[in-house]
Amino acid sequence: MYEQVSHSLLNRILDEIRPEIRNRNLRHFYTRLGANFYAVYSLFHLLYGGREDFERQMVQLVEVMAAQYIQRDSALKTLDIKRERDHNWFLSQEWVGMALYSDGFAGDIKGLRKKIAYLQELGVNMIHVMPILECPAGASDGGYAVSNFRDVNKRAGTLSDVMSLAKDLRRRDMLLTLDVVVNHTSDQHAWARKARQGDKKYQDYYYIFDNRDIPDMFEETLPEIFPQNAPGNFTFDETMNKWVMTVFNNYQWDLNYSNPAVFIEMLDIILFWANQGADIVRLDAVAFLWKKIGTASQNEREAHLILQLMKDCCHVTAPGVLFIAEAIVAPVEITKYFGEDAIIAKECEIAYNATFMALLWDAVATRNTKLLNQGIRNLPDKLNRATWLNYVRCHDDIGLGFDDTDIKQINYEPHAHRKFLLDYLTGVYDDSPARGQPFGRNDKTGDARISGALASLAGLETALEVNDPKAIQQSIDLILLLHSMIMSYGGIPLLYYGDEIGTLNDRTFLEDENKAHDNRWMHRPRIDWEKAELRHHRGSPEQKIFDGLKKMIAVRKSIPAFADFNNRELLDTGNEHLFIFMRNNPLQLNDNVLVVGNFDGSPQSLTLSDLGNRGLFEYAQLQDLYSGASPRLFKDQLVIPPYNFYWLTDFKS
Ligand code: GLC
Repeated sequence: MYEQVSHSLLNRILDEIRPEIRNRNLRHFYTRLGANFYAVYSLFHLLYGGREDFERQMVQLVEVMAAQYIQRDSALKTLDIKRERDHNWFLSQEWVGMALYSDGFAGDIKGLRKKIAYLQELGVNMIHVMPILECPAGASDGGYAVSNFRDVNKRAGTLSDVMSLAKDLRRRDMLLTLDVVVNHTSDQHAWARKARQGDKKYQDYYYIFDNRDIPDMFEETLPEIFPQNAPGNFTFDETMNKWVMTVFNNYQWDLNYSNPAVFIEMLDIILFWANQGADIVRLDAVAFLWKKIGTASQNEREAHLILQLMKDCCHVTAPGVLFIAEAIVAPVEITKYFGEDAIIAKECEIAYNATFMALLWDAVATRNTKLLNQGIRNLPDKLNRATWLNYVRCHDDIGLGFDDTDIKQINYEPHAHRKFLLDYLTGVYDDSPARGQPFGRNDKTGDARISGALASLAGLETALEVNDPKAIQQSIDLILLLHSMIMSYGGIPLLYYGDEIGTLNDRTFLEDENKAHDNRWMHRPRIDWEKAELRHHRGSPEQKIFDGLKKMIAVRKSIPAFADFNNRELLDTGNEHLFIFMRNNPLQLNDNVLVVGNFDGSPQSLTLSDLGNRGLFEYAQLQDLYSGASPRLFKDQLVIPPYNFYWLTDFKS
């Protein structure tokens, strides 16, 4: 949009900009800067317009974008242009991701490069390498307490290892996702050290207070994220004799985005990693970016403005790079991270579907899909050109963050229901084979979340211990069922490393004093590659899970109806154990796939005529795309075995 106030500012900036930038031929950069400048200016003005140095800050912002553009490798620039042309590229069903710790998966980044073939064997073509940046050995929060945003942790490797990994992946048409921890730094970061030494400039990078007045006001409404390990949201720093805001662990200092210098630094870092070859940047803890007294300081409007501004700036320098919003917040809040008041995503193109994840675990524990159906039905619509990251497990705990109204609507009492889920998933009940552990128990609110590896939560550990073949098979079926849901729902399925071979809880973290207090480490395993070899032994759990997933991935990639164009219709047939939805190919009429999952331990039936006249399923000859077989029918009743699923299509279409 051409608007004169911002345009004349742009002209002034172009006059003022450093000569080494001004004199370069940056055609693509300038066309994009021109296109986005009004948006960039407006957002920056909304956030920082009241400052006297506003214009100087704007010059710096543009310089950062331009300098990073100049640094950007020509291969990446070519990719940018290609993706601009094929802008729906990431909505395709062909993407399947895996999140992994490079050390747990393969020792280090070099080791990971050698394991790309394993990922390809499975069919994974997007990897999220969990944080690899420098951080203190002990107080690391699994890499999320970064002490240097521009260099790699020596234990993981070097910057050049990351660039080689990025190149290896690009050559194979695979995507690399890296984290930028935008909300906080380690207290060992150079900025924090300088702040501690009394440098005012860097004290303004954080929220630092002389006394408890403001912290106490904040505490009235701020929840606690790690109530057991890091109660409260402020930490007293003895060197400064001041209080620092530390919403997560006490060694993670929250960055102060009301200071434009912080925004510009973090944008520079995002673009730096885009230039190292990250196709996707995972923005950590984005809900927390703006703090306001009297609120929970999550999902504030300004947090969204910051993300929109980051996106608009990234579009100018590296338009091929996508953002993932890690916002594990209430269902109605999550979709806002795609951007509001827009048709296409203007904040983050991708967001974790934490709601779906938690609802799937609800279905596992209750063996019915009442809340799953209710919760998904009430999820706000997602924008076009925005997509979910669908997952069953990740490196974090499972939070039971569903909407209380949804729980009440299906006649459960929210508190009691959450307690039931916690007890079920932590194996308190005799009939529960799950082996999770409570995480982040808050005695003040009674809340808790759940840690545990997928296979142990799904009962495989218990079944193997008692050596019960039927129970072993059931838990394998459940693992596959859960994956069949994230592969067909719409969005990018994100597997979690180790789950593909049924890795169980890892209790060795208890022997490490830096980890013992945080049981999320029980599901951050070191892969046992001998066990992984068992994927070649017919009949082993490893083989059944690995081959099941491998086939599922291959089949998913061949089903255009599984691409994410908001082309999903949830169906209700009155059987409370089934989760049923239709996916349709937006490019071809009647190219539908009916997804049916049975979350119960007994076979269930579905009367096809109850589905109405959708894609002629009633009379057609059905085929399950996953197994290639025709499913069992009794008259027009489809029979779904316990913990099984179908991806049904009709032979004739
Ligand atoms: C994100 C990460 C989590 C970490 C937190 C604080 O939620 O996923 O592991 O503890 O941010 O950085």
